[in-house]
Amino acid sequence: MDKNNKLVALVTGSTGGLGTAMCQRLSRDGYTVIGNYSNAEKAKKWLEDQKALGYDFKMYQADVSDYDSVGNMIKQIEAEIGTVDVLVNNAGITRDGQFRKMTKESWDAVLKTNLYSVFNCSRHVINQMIEQSFGRIINISSVNGQRGQFGQANYSAAKAGMHGFTKTLAMEVARKSITVNTISPGYIGTDMVMAIAEDVRNKIVAEIPIGRLGGTEEIAHLVSFLASKQASFITGANYAINGGQHVY
Ligand code: CAA
Repeated sequence: MDKNNKLVALVTGSTGGLGTAMCQRLSRDGYTVIGNYSNAEKAKKWLEDQKALGYDFKMYQADVSDYDSVGNMIKQIEAEIGTVDVLVNNAGITRDGQFRKMTKESWDAVLKTNLYSVFNCSRHVINQMIEQSFGRIINISSVNGQRGQFGQANYSAAKAGMHGFTKTLAMEVARKSITVNTISPGYIGTDMVMAIAEDVRNKIVAEIPIGRLGGTEEIAHLVSFLASKQASFITGANYAINGGQHVY
């Protein structure tokens, strides 16, 4: 909570398509929203763009794949803003390629950024959430962690790992009014998805029964709901939001 008694939400990877939509939605919901960045130039431009749209976000630098870097960021946030009430573990990268050609560097980069980051950020906020008997941790996974995807052994492993983490942490902190949930988006119209070769992407869209890519605001809407007090009986869940591409 900040000095004006507003709940504080921290969204990692906030400058991306999903992160931006989440920050905007949580801000409209009344949270003090903190974005996180690793690239200072991109962050500065993003903050300016958001300001022009009427959003007043705070930004803190940390490499989410680095435990101590996240620790320093959380200490700074607690000193300057307040305690983190809602953590959205959203930062993620892809390094796609068939496994038989996958380098150790690409494996490590994806596991560290997409999965180790979830440990790093959650670990640094969990004791404060326990102390205040309230918290929301929302992990942004992927349909490809649920079903696998040609060319994504690293990404699918990391994204599947996120939900294993969600289930256990949800059990451990349930009695402290902290919920931990996973959202597994399908293919959303972000830069990450638009970076897939057009012919490959067209084939993927053809597999989506709803017949289109998802919108970033559709994921942000679910984040908003899971963060809310009304969602206090939902924990350890994994919400698929993929246009029917993977039903199970
Ligand atoms: N199933 C079976 N075979 C496939 C295939 C598939 N889905 N896709 C490609 N192939 C085959 C091709 O037919 C080709 O076969 P041949 O060698 O026999 O001709 C071969 O794989 C392609 O070989 P390349 O050397 O070109 O493949 P590559 O190792 O460079 O990888 C790829 C290709 C980059 C993985 C490309 O297929 C691709 O971009 N796929 C999409 C991956 C994807 O969906 N990424 C999601 C990114 S967005 C995201 O991750 C957000 C989210 O959460 C959803």
